Amino acid sequence: MAQANEVVLVTGGGSGMGRETARRFAARGAQVALFDVNTAGMEETAQGFDSVHAWSVDVTDFAAVKAAVAEVEERLGPVDKLYNAAAIMPFGILTEQDNGIIHKQMAINYGGLVNITQAVLPGMLQRGRGDFVSFASMAGWIPMLKTGAYTATKFAVRAFTETLYHENLNSGVRFACVCPPAVATPLLKQGQATDWPKMLDGEQGDPIAPAVVIDAIEDCLARGKFFVYPTRDAKIGVFMRRLFPGLIWKQVHQVEGF
Ligand SMILES: NC(=O)c1ccc[n+]([C@@H]2O[C@H](COP(=O)([O-])OP(=O)(O)OC[C@H]3O[C@@H](n4cnc5c(N)ncnc54)[C@H](O)[C@@H]3O)[C@@H](O)[C@H]2O)c1
Repeated sequence: MAQANEVVLVTGGGSGMGRETARRFAARGAQVALFDVNTAGMEETAQGFDSVHAWSVDVTDFAAVKAAVAEVEERLGPVDKLYNAAAIMPFGILTEQDNGIIHKQMAINYGGLVNITQAVLPGMLQRGRGDFVSFASMAGWIPMLKTGAYTATKFAVRAFTETLYHENLNSGVRFACVCPPAVATPLLKQGQATDWPKMLDGEQGDPIAPAVVIDAIEDCLARGKFFVYPTRDAKIGVFMRRLFPGLIWKQVHQVEGF
């Protein structure tokens, strides 16, 4: 639960799970700072709340991220909770996908996490409290055909977050690394507009609602569980990947037809 006047910083707060997070905490009385490049989306997120504040920040720009965090802390107070949800997800076969797009995904999905971490986490560690939430994905465990560039970013997010967690055990800061299956947000349209793998149609069931993921995060933080698997199938998928990666690849090749 958020306490009134808690400060919650959400990257990617102009859409999807970032928006769900922001509005949920604002409804509980928190001051919420959104960092996003989608200004129209941030306006929609803030609708009906005076306590949701938007910063147009590209998370790949470390100087801009640091300056915006300093402004947030001056205007609203120290950040109590950080939800890093900013990401993009164009798909494609690795030898065909635009070189710049592959690098851009890493810069936003992973590089953005690095930037916001270095701007926010030292303060939390100094205060000895805070929630640090990083959005990886089931794609952070299970590579597939056509999703390689995105998957690489989510493997990086998972490794970075897991290391951070272990480097700061007993610091008082709670860490969560979120590994959802497909979630019904605009992000899916980016994948669908590029080279969508058949595996993601039907094989994993319908996309789940953003609220299910945010519920699971809160539940795991409260129980001290680092990895957040919002559905039973997500947990089973990761288990299968760890024990039987060859079986998953066999199925992927069968479904994709190459
Ligand atoms: N939707 C899914 O199926 C799914 C599944 C697993 C994990 N995830 C992860 O969950 C997180 C949230 O995803 P979502 O589905 O809510 O996505 P979304 O597309 O709805 O929202 C992502 C937001 O990030 C913002 N963003 C993109 N580039 C940015 C940049 N350079 N600087 C600042 N903001 C930027 C976008 O403008 C957008 O508002 C992401 O990390 C995503 O990879 C999503």
